[in-house]
Amino acid sequence: MTTAAVHVTGVSKIFRLAKGAETVALDGIDLAVAPGEFVSLIGPSGCGKSTLLRLIADLDQPTSGDIRVFGKTARAARIDQDYGIAFQQAGLLPWRTVAGNIELPLELHKVGKPARQSRAAELLALVGLSDVADRYPDQLSGGMQQRVAIARSLAESPELLLMDEPFGALDEMTRERMQAELVRICGETGAAVVFVTHSIPEAVFLSDRVVVMSPRPGRIRQIVDVALGSAGERADDLREASSFFAAVSAVREALHGSPVAEAASAARGVETR
Ligand SMILES: Nc1ncnc2c1ncn2[C@@H]1O[C@H](COP(=O)(O)OP(=O)(O)OP(=O)(O)O)[C@@H](O)[C@H]1O
Ligand SMILES: [Mg+2]
Repeated sequence: MTTAAVHVTGVSKIFRLAKGAETVALDGIDLAVAPGEFVSLIGPSGCGKSTLLRLIADLDQPTSGDIRVFGKTARAARIDQDYGIAFQQAGLLPWRTVAGNIELPLELHKVGKPARQSRAAELLALVGLSDVADRYPDQLSGGMQQRVAIARSLAESPELLLMDEPFGALDEMTRERMQAELVRICGETGAAVVFVTHSIPEAVFLSDRVVVMSPRPGRIRQIVDVALGSAGERADDLREASSFFAAVSAVREALHGSPVAEAASAARGVETR
């Protein structure tokens, strides 16, 4: 059996607040993401999507349960920098240029300067920002900053990408272009992705599986198998295909969580939790 890219077992997260109050952000989460698999997390605001991603990235620790990244503890995987991260807040270093930000992970891994520079140039072209390589992050729009963060997360062609609403600040056209690019990049590099989004069509277009979460306490309500084809088969015309609309409906029904919807999903071969 191959080692999962991400293996989350029985994970709960309780935030303890002042005066004994607490928030159960996640409860009993089990999820395995295979190498090369694209999994989206979708659910109402506050259901724990970002928390789950932060636990996988070892930016916070679970209250109970276990998290493995390529078989390592989350902590060991973070120290080894086994994945690229692109979160909604771009998280760029303000004192470094755009190119300097993209080169950072390569610098940390002691990649030589010429190789770093050519990789940064390649990624800047990919995200359409070649002409702002020498600018500083605060001279860019929010959407441009997000694209720099995406380029940075791809710098080392990681086998795992953790992305929290990375396209949230992009206009619709750029967003669809970045989605198509992400599908292509993942097809080429074989990267596994855990991707948080509020957009059902985005989740469906990108994913092999869509994990639908329910609020307070955050639990997995349903996992919808999408798999609309390999990267090469997922061109823009897929967005007009009946299989695309059927998957969008399945995810929407799962999100709304009505019993009728669940029966309909089951009839379509959707895995129910
Ligand atoms: N550091 C923290 N301290 C206390 N409570 C927290 C903390 N971080 C998150 N929470 C709570 O945990 C719950 C889940 O938050 P989280 O940010 O994971 O939600 P989300 O699904 O990402 O929401 P959104 O879609 O709005 O980004 C919320 O109720 C939130 O208030
Ligand atoms: Mg969030």
